[in-house]
Amino acid sequence: MKILITGGAGFIGYHLAKRLSSEGHNITIADNFFRGKRDAELGALLKNPNVHLVEADLSQKDAWNALGKGYDQVYHLVGINGTNLFYEIPHEVLRIGVASTMHALDWFRGVNGVPDAKILYTSSNEAYASALEAYGSLPLPTPENVPLVIADTYNPRWSYGGQKLIGELFFIHYAKAYNFRMVIVRPHNFYGPRSGYGHVIPGTLEKIRVKTDPFPLPGADETRSFCYIDDAVEAMQVVMGSRATDGGTYHIGNPNELSMEALVQEIFNIAKWHPKTLEKKLSPAGSVKRRLPDVSKLKRDTGWEAKTTLEEGLRKTVEWYLLNPKGDSR
Ligand SMILES: NC(=O)c1ccc[n+]([C@@H]2O[C@H](COP(=O)([O-])OP(=O)(O)OC[C@H]3O[C@@H](n4cnc5c(N)ncnc54)[C@H](O)[C@@H]3O)[C@@H](O)[C@H]2O)c1
Repeated sequence: MKILITGGAGFIGYHLAKRLSSEGHNITIADNFFRGKRDAELGALLKNPNVHLVEADLSQKDAWNALGKGYDQVYHLVGINGTNLFYEIPHEVLRIGVASTMHALDWFRGVNGVPDAKILYTSSNEAYASALEAYGSLPLPTPENVPLVIADTYNPRWSYGGQKLIGELFFIHYAKAYNFRMVIVRPHNFYGPRSGYGHVIPGTLEKIRVKTDPFPLPGADETRSFCYIDDAVEAMQVVMGSRATDGGTYHIGNPNELSMEALVQEIFNIAKWHPKTLEKKLSPAGSVKRRLPDVSKLKRDTGWEAKTTLEEGLRKTVEWYLLNPKGDSR
C-alpha cells in the first residue's frame, strides 16, 4: 500500500513509519522539522528504499502539491504537541493545527484520487479534558461520546484542545459532505523511545541523569494511564485497516491508571537511583487531575488491546533515554 504520514518525523509518526515500512508498504513521511528530529534513527529509516521524506510546511496550502497523490492511507499527525508550547505559542498551536487539517482534507478529497482511500486524524484527550475544569467531573473511564469542552478561552492551555475539537468537526462533516472514508483517534499518553524531551517520562529521566535532589514532582497525586508506543501504533494501524471503524472516533490507550508519584517511583526503581527527597509541587493551572480512557469501543470493533506492561515499556524507554540524553531539542 502507498501510505502518507504527515508529521511523520515526530514521535508517533516515526514509530508508525518504522512499523508500516517493515511490512513492505511504501511510506512517505512529510514534516517541516518543527519538532521532529533528523537523528540517526530517522536517517536509518530513510535508508529503506520504501521510505521517502518530503520536507514541507503543511500549514501552507501549496506545500501539499509536493506530496503527489494516489495514497491508499493517510495518517494526519501534524500538530504542535508538548504542554510548554501550549502556553508559549497558543496562536501557532491553533494556526498550524487548524490550517494543516483543512488543507489535508481539501487535498485528500480533491487531489489524492483514490476512491477507497482512508484518512485518520489524531485528535487528543485534551479535546474533552477541559470538561473537568468546567463542570468538576467526567465519567471515568472516559468514553468517546463525552462533550468536547473548552472551559476558559483565555487559558492558553486550551489552545491545543480547541484546535483538536475543530479538527474533529472538520473530519466528521467533510467526510459526510464529500463521502470519503475517515476515522478519528484520541491518543492517551503514549510513551516510549524518541518521544522528545518535553513529556513527563523523558523529563523525569533527564532529572535522574543529572541526579536532581531534592527531586521536584508537580501534581504528585494526579493520575494518567500510559500506553507504550509499540501498542499505540499497532492500534492506529488496526483502526485504519478496519471498515468497522469508518466514520467513528476511538480512544487509544492503556486502561491501567496510576498516580504521577507511582510512575516516578517505578522509573527510580528501573534506573536504580532514588533521590533523598521528593519535593511534591502544585500543577500548572488547567492541569487535569485524573485521566483514564475507556477503550472498550476499540476492543469491541477491532479486538485490539494494549499488551506491553508498564515495567516492560518503561525499561525500554529508560534504556533509550540513558543512551540519548537531552540535547538542544524541544
Ligand atoms: N504523543 C501523545 O501521547 C499524543 C497524545 C494526544 C494527541 N497526540 C497527537 O498525535 C499527533 C502526533 O503526536 P506526536 O507525539 O508524534 O508529536 P510530535 O510533536 O513528535 O510530532 C508532530 C510532528 O508534526 C510536525 N509538524 C509540526 N508542524 C508542522 C507543519 N506545519 N508542517 C509539517 N510538519 C509539522 C513536527 O515537526 C513533528 O515532527 C499530534 O497531532 C498530537 O497532537 C499525541
